[in-house]
Amino acid sequence: MEEIEDAFSVVSRSYDQSKKNDAGKYETDHLVIELVDARVPISSRNPDIDELGKNKARLILLNKSDLAEEKWNDAWMEYFKEKGYSVVKLNAKKGSGIKSINGVIQEACKEKIERDRKRGILNRPVRAIVVGIPNVGKSTFINALAGKACTKTGNKPGVTKGKQWIRLNKNVELLDTPGILWPKFEDQTVGLRLAFIGSIKDEILHTEELAAELTQFMIKEYPGVLAEKYEMEESENGFENVQEIAKSRHCLVKGNELDTEKAAKLLLDDFRNGRLGRITLETPEQFAKEKTE
Ligand code: G4P
Repeated sequence: MEEIEDAFSVVSRSYDQSKKNDAGKYETDHLVIELVDARVPISSRNPDIDELGKNKARLILLNKSDLAEEKWNDAWMEYFKEKGYSVVKLNAKKGSGIKSINGVIQEACKEKIERDRKRGILNRPVRAIVVGIPNVGKSTFINALAGKACTKTGNKPGVTKGKQWIRLNKNVELLDTPGILWPKFEDQTVGLRLAFIGSIKDEILHTEELAAELTQFMIKEYPGVLAEKYEMEESENGFENVQEIAKSRHCLVKGNELDTEKAAKLLLDDFRNGRLGRITLETPEQFAKEKTE
């Protein structure tokens, strides 16, 4: 555990020192489209987003919803709606949820459109930017939304050189480059969840330890899943579980010793690709509880 804590503080420090959230550059937009990972909708946010999104319309996309449990996707939708955000459940890879986006953008920006109308400005498109932590699916989303039909509107005065606004339709323009928000993990739980989903590079963390932690989460929250998938006995000891997976999947090194490193990678890979089923790592109830602890 100590090793994991050390690794997190190293990553955390290097992010803090070397990265400023680059979304702060954009000032001409009206709508901030924030992608979060449906398996960890809070841990995959950066709190600075609220500063960036001040006085702008806000849309949250619960992306990778295909990898998270549907009942919790719905609960998170409610959670964000109650906080005043527009929310869409998305699978950017397959494109499900994409069709509703244009309508939701109009709805989210209706105050701005109304303001424009009152000032005699008609048909000025809404400008939207996409932000989120690395690997949350920003590029996949932009490609899915813009598709082939898009036309680049070219640089316009007041827009940083090299950035392009894509005209999606007569009402909406989208910045072609997403803003990267670096995750913040002040506490270890958030760091672990981000590591489980692969947002923190595995090389920085001890793979076997991470896998052992994941088995403990699984056994607590999704009992029986590992037992069925790997035909193994579930133990309270995470390392024993990784050994069991190594046995069951014949992960061996020379001399017939168990290759637990390989088994750990296999487990993490199975989890990240949805082969353990749809799994939500944090729920609104848990989040509320953690906040008060
Ligand atoms: P980023 O710009 O935010 O860094 O993320 P990017 O779009 O590059 O997506 C990161 C990975 O997440 C990609 O997988 C992408 O296919 C996957 N992804 C994006 N949206 C979804 C989704 O809704 N559901 C699922 N299951 N996956 C999604 P990859 O492994 O890097 O590439 P590939 O295997 O798709 O080729």
